[in-house]
Amino acid sequence: MAYTAKDYSKLIGMEGFSETLLKNHFTLYQGYVTNTNKLVELLSSKAKDATNPEYAELKRRFGFEFNGMRLHEYYFENLGGKEPLDKSGKLTRKLAEDFGSYEAWEQDFRATGAMRGIGWTILYQDDVTGQLFNQWINEHEVGHLAGCRPILVMDVFEHAFMTDYGLKRADYIAAVFKNINWKAVEGRLK
Ligand SMILES: [Fe+2]
Repeated sequence: MAYTAKDYSKLIGMEGFSETLLKNHFTLYQGYVTNTNKLVELLSSKAKDATNPEYAELKRRFGFEFNGMRLHEYYFENLGGKEPLDKSGKLTRKLAEDFGSYEAWEQDFRATGAMRGIGWTILYQDDVTGQLFNQWINEHEVGHLAGCRPILVMDVFEHAFMTDYGLKRADYIAAVFKNINWKAVEGRLK
């Protein structure tokens, strides 16, 4: 079964994001879908030989391409929001419980996103304890918390903001916060 790229063109017109940036970003995302499918196919046809470097490198590559695909889906699906976060809803209450206050969570999430390097910032919920964490992901595949579900996902690769913001990553993060689809985010919370 092959993966199909989803259509996120309804995000075009979002405040703070140019059409050029979004269209390029959708194209990049489609590349991850294509490459994930390609890897699934290639790996199934290769001899299962651990001494073959080609087989080993394709195996290693899979986490990069698959997460590159899936994280973009989480990201695009938690954007395009028009309504502010319900400050008396379950997400706000949970954030306050685990971080001290909504504001303290937001400060930590923004700071995580502003770190040097390329990757992602993810608000995770531990499926075992329910605990929330703001986590840095290096590139697409390094740093994921096993058994945790992504609640809010933010792309901080340069392609996510350079076109519109140059090196001003904090300004991009502010634009993300203006467009979070809080209903989608809250829907992921257990
Ligand atoms: Fe991206």
